[in-house]
Amino acid sequence: MYINIESYIESHSTEESKVLEELFRETHLHAVHPRMVSGHIQGRLLSLLSRLKQPHRILEIGTYTGYSAICLAEGLKTGGKLISIEINDELEAINRKNIEKAGMCDKVQLITGDAKTIIPELTDEFELIFIDGNKQEYPEYYELSKSKLASGGLLIADNALWSGKVIKTATDPQTREIQKFNNMVQEDPSMRNFILPVRDGLMIAEKIQA
Ligand SMILES: C[S@@+](CC[C@H](N)C(=O)[O-])C[C@H]1O[C@@H](n2cnc3c(N)ncnc32)[C@H](O)[C@@H]1O
Repeated sequence: MYINIESYIESHSTEESKVLEELFRETHLHAVHPRMVSGHIQGRLLSLLSRLKQPHRILEIGTYTGYSAICLAEGLKTGGKLISIEINDELEAINRKNIEKAGMCDKVQLITGDAKTIIPELTDEFELIFIDGNKQEYPEYYELSKSKLASGGLLIADNALWSGKVIKTATDPQTREIQKFNNMVQEDPSMRNFILPVRDGLMIAEKIQA
């Protein structure tokens, strides 16, 4: 029998690879705030969305230990590239090691630095953008990356429901900025969007083809 609905979903979703299973375990053993890692259910969903889209270029904001980067990179077109930005340089050794273990060094480019300064310098156009950095910066990431999203491209943002706090009056900056971000996407006529209530909520928005 299943202990909860999550374990039922897990046992009826494609298994995660051995590399991801180990990465998840190692993150819980050695990293600070391990609950930030995507994990099996969200990881398989990200992988599936990326496979459906078959992007040539993916941008990720917030690498952490590399779990979601690996899942998203699974859907890249042959010759495609994922750029992942992480501000915390203490994570560099671990996320590089994990990308190496996944055999993805040729398709994942890790950049250490602040996404707010790096995004404006990027010249690529992306068919998929995954926002999973500092929750207080979501509106800024949106402003900066929207013009880099290809027509018909997908923008996915994690924690869109922020443990359900988004339905209440915000009393902290994280909730306030996530509410602001969700409203920005909702009011943007160039986006077709939906909040998928998986885990902490994924805002999924498609940039309408011009
Ligand atoms: C929720 S974790 C990312 C989890 C990862 N995407 C996954 O699913 O396994 C958020 C990460 O964003 C990073 N971050 C926060 N602000 C950032 C910024 N301005 N630029 C780049 N990374 C940032 C944090 O250091 C942290 O590692």
